[in-house]
Amino acid sequence: MRMVDVIRKKRSGAELSAEEVRFVVEGVVSGEIPDYQTSAWLMAVCFAGMTARETAVLTLAMADSGDRVDLSGIRGIKLDKHSTGGVGDKTTLILAPLVAACGVPVAKMSGRGLGHTGGTIDKLESMLGFRTELPRERFFAQVNEIGVSVIGQSGNIAPADKKLYALRDVTGTVESIPLIASSVMSKKIAAGADAILLDVKFGSGAFMKTAEEAKALAQAMVAIGREVGRRTVAAITDMDQPLGRAIGNAMEVREAIDVLAGEGPDDLRELCLELGGHMVALGGKASDAAEARRMLEEAIASGAALRKFAELVAAQGGDPAVVERPDELLPQAGLLVPVAAAADGYVHGIDAESVGLAAMRLGAGRAAKEDRIDHAVGVELVRKRGDRVRGGDTLALLHVRNDKGADELARQLAAAYRIESAAPGANPLIYEIVS
Ligand code: URA
Repeated sequence: MRMVDVIRKKRSGAELSAEEVRFVVEGVVSGEIPDYQTSAWLMAVCFAGMTARETAVLTLAMADSGDRVDLSGIRGIKLDKHSTGGVGDKTTLILAPLVAACGVPVAKMSGRGLGHTGGTIDKLESMLGFRTELPRERFFAQVNEIGVSVIGQSGNIAPADKKLYALRDVTGTVESIPLIASSVMSKKIAAGADAILLDVKFGSGAFMKTAEEAKALAQAMVAIGREVGRRTVAAITDMDQPLGRAIGNAMEVREAIDVLAGEGPDDLRELCLELGGHMVALGGKASDAAEARRMLEEAIASGAALRKFAELVAAQGGDPAVVERPDELLPQAGLLVPVAAAADGYVHGIDAESVGLAAMRLGAGRAAKEDRIDHAVGVELVRKRGDRVRGGDTLALLHVRNDKGADELARQLAAAYRIESAAPGANPLIYEIVS
C-alpha cells in the first residue's frame, strides 16, 4: 500500500477501507509515513470528511496505538467524564465525589491546563500535599475503598493521537468533526471506562462555536461509543461565558467546595446536577436521570458529597479540613484589583477565551507546557450574563500578588464583557442531551 494512493482516495471523497485507515495510523506511529504526507491526508479528511465506519476504525486504531488501561481490578461500572474544554470548568472536582457519594465508582485520570483552559490536576495540586501521581495498584485500591480517585494521566495513552494532534495544531486541521471525535474517544477508550459522559461545549470559549456544530460532534462521538460497545451520553452545553465565577486553581477548588456544600453559583450547580444525573444513571444506580438527580441533591443536602470530597483529599495526602477552613488552607493572592464597567447596560456574554487568557497571564495557567503556575491567582467574575450594570460598577476582580501589569489585564477583561442596552433573552445552559 502507498500513502500517496490513500491521500488521493480520501481527496476524491471515497471511503477508505479499514486496512487503509490502519495503515495510516501504524505508519504515523512508526514514523514510516513522513509528516508532509500525514499533513496532506489530514487536510483531505478536513475537506472530504469521514463516514461513521471510517471514524470508528480510526478511533480504535488510535486507542490501540499505545497502552490500554485495564480497570477490571475496580468493582462496578467504571465511568469516565470528559469536557471538550472550557474556562472555569471545575465540574470534575465536584462530580467525582458527588457521583461517588451516590455509589458509582469514579477512577478518573485528568490532565493539566494549557493555554486558556485550566486542568483538573493543577486545581487539585493547589491543596498542599495532594498527590496526583499514584501507583496503579494504589489508584485501584483507593477506588475500591472509598469509591473515588483522581490522578494525572500517565502511561503511553494513544500516542497516535499525540502525533496527529501536534500536526493538526500547525496545519490548520484541528477543526474537523471526525478528527476531534476520534481524538477524544481514542483516549477515553484506551483509559478503560465502561461508560462515558461527554460535555460538549459551544460558544466563544469552545472549539465549536455554535450549538449545531457541537451537536454534530456529540453525535459523532456517541456513534463511536455505540460502535465500540461503550455506553456514551453527550450533553451539549453553553460556553458563551465562563462557568461559575472563579477562574484560577485554588479559587476553583474553593468554588467546588461551595457547590458540594449546597451553595456556589447557580450555573455551575445546575450543570453538575445535570451531568451527574446522567453519570449516576449510566453507572446503573438510578433508573433514569431524574431519579439520579434527586439522589445527587440528597447527597449534597445530607453532607455526604462534601464528606466524600474530604475523604478523597485525605486519601491522596491533603488536609481534609480544607472543606471547613478553605480560607485558611488554600493559598490566596492577597491583592484584589477591580475591573470597572465602561458603560451602563446588561451583560450579554463574557468572552470565555479572553478571560482564560487573562487568568493565564496572571500566572494561573501555562503558555507553554513547562511553565510553572501560581495556584493562588485568578479572576473572579462578579457580574455575569443577565446582570444589569452601571458605568464604573465592578464587573470582575483580579486576584493578584502585586499590581504589576494589572491595569492592562483589567482593561482586557473589561473588553471581554459584551454589554448592551436591552436585557438579554434566556439562554439555556444545557442545550440538548445526545444519547
Ligand atoms: N480535544 C482533544 O482531545 N482532541 C481534539 O482534537 C480536540 C479537543
